Amino acid sequence: MKIELVAKAKWDGRTYAVFMFEGETQPLGMDKAMGRRLSKIGAEERFRGELRRTALLQSEDGKERIILSGLGRRRDFEPDRARIACAKAIRQAEEIGARVLGVMLPDGKEVKGDTARFAANVIEAGLLAGYRDLRFRKLRADEPAPLEELVVIGQSAPSERVRKAAAEAIRRCEAVCYVRDLVNEPSAKKWPMKMAEMAEELAVPGKIGVQVLDKSELQRQGMNGILAVGQGSHNPPCLVQLTYTPRGKSKGTLVFVGKGITFDSGGLSLKNAQQMENMKDDMAGAAVVFGLFKYLGEADLPWRIIGLAPLAENLPGGGAQKVGDVIRHFNGKTVEVANTDAEGRLLLADALAYGATLKPDLMIDIATLTGACVVALGNECSGVLGTDRKTIEQLINIGKREGENFWELPLFERYRSQMRSEVADLKNIGKPQNAGTIIGGLFLSEFVPREINWVHIDIAGTAFTSEPRDYCPVGATGVPLRTLIALVNSR
Ligand code: BES
Ligand code: MN
Ligand code: ZN
Repeated sequence: MKIELVAKAKWDGRTYAVFMFEGETQPLGMDKAMGRRLSKIGAEERFRGELRRTALLQSEDGKERIILSGLGRRRDFEPDRARIACAKAIRQAEEIGARVLGVMLPDGKEVKGDTARFAANVIEAGLLAGYRDLRFRKLRADEPAPLEELVVIGQSAPSERVRKAAAEAIRRCEAVCYVRDLVNEPSAKKWPMKMAEMAEELAVPGKIGVQVLDKSELQRQGMNGILAVGQGSHNPPCLVQLTYTPRGKSKGTLVFVGKGITFDSGGLSLKNAQQMENMKDDMAGAAVVFGLFKYLGEADLPWRIIGLAPLAENLPGGGAQKVGDVIRHFNGKTVEVANTDAEGRLLLADALAYGATLKPDLMIDIATLTGACVVALGNECSGVLGTDRKTIEQLINIGKREGENFWELPLFERYRSQMRSEVADLKNIGKPQNAGTIIGGLFLSEFVPREINWVHIDIAGTAFTSEPRDYCPVGATGVPLRTLIALVNSR
């Protein structure tokens, strides 16, 4: 989708959208007389400005089509509502066959927060709602054609601040859509070494380095968790390491680790057909790490940033790990494999223990780790657990602005004993149907030394959606990349 910024005086399109707060009489960004006329017609249509509602109006000469889009009550306004309302307007425009939609920005005094942020959110709504994965299909007959161009109409010519915010929004969305493409890709086309090749394309000389530890290197390093999970597949596992080097002096090191199971059949602890249906998404954590580096390729930040993506296919082939096997992980701890379907933690264990040797100021892992997290928090809220209070609070707050929700679950020490094993230091599951997400977090914590600031994000419920969302079609969501981008920028 093409994005343009123009001044109101220069806009001459046929279809445009205007926002309105619920219960107010003046649509935002309109001159008074025109605004009064519009809101009168809007009222006749019984449109009051409720969030997610639109009214379609026509100018008196029939030449212009105006979409009023509700923002809900002014006192409830938060930045994500600009995205929601804009996405609704876009849907409405597509329904009436528009190719180009102008979106009227409120003027600076009309909405709290600033115009640049509002403009950026309008653009994000456009690029994210406009995402379609048409690699393997054409548009269905009942699907309206996607909008070709979104024009952001300002009260005057776009300021430097607005242009910068717009460019940043575009970079962020390109990274999110890249993640969605990776996650939506069928597993037949994204085996571990293939994903490593894709990672190599993220390299930027002098800025982003890419290293791939292949199977023999994993053996040399003692990354036996990654190897064990991958041994049931013909496609060998690997570990991708991405390194962003800042231009000037570095403030420190941030490590991001993403679970990269390119398909999770469960292994010998085989899933049933229904549980397996969307398991191509089990590399969403790794995809988010790749997406972060896609973004970093065009960013300028004062941190050394390391991305780690342990990649494996969890299949029950003849060489598969067996229930009762014992793994000696990278940090020397041993684990009894009581369930081969709790594989994410086995491969993350090595990556986290290795990440810790890089002495990070902060380490965050992102993983589609537990079905229990879907039960606890549903599909619109990721689970967060960890030892770094400040970062957890920051994630929750930033997530609100980004329309990505997080909720903290405790690393409750009393449950640690559930992982006691008679044959190894610990086993990889706890009691059935019992605090599964917390157990997952406690397991991972065994591989992160206490002094390291660490946060685990469980995206099992949020990485993929089976229903269309405000600005995300069915399929991969790209969650929580926008929050992570905002987080690294806020440090
Ligand atoms: N990849 C799954 C978790 C998952 C479930 C992601 C549903 C997305 C949707 C993970 O590897 C898994 O299978 N976890 C098991 C753990 C159990 C065996 C302790 C689970 O949640 O059932
Ligand atoms: Mn599994
Ligand atoms: Zn899994």
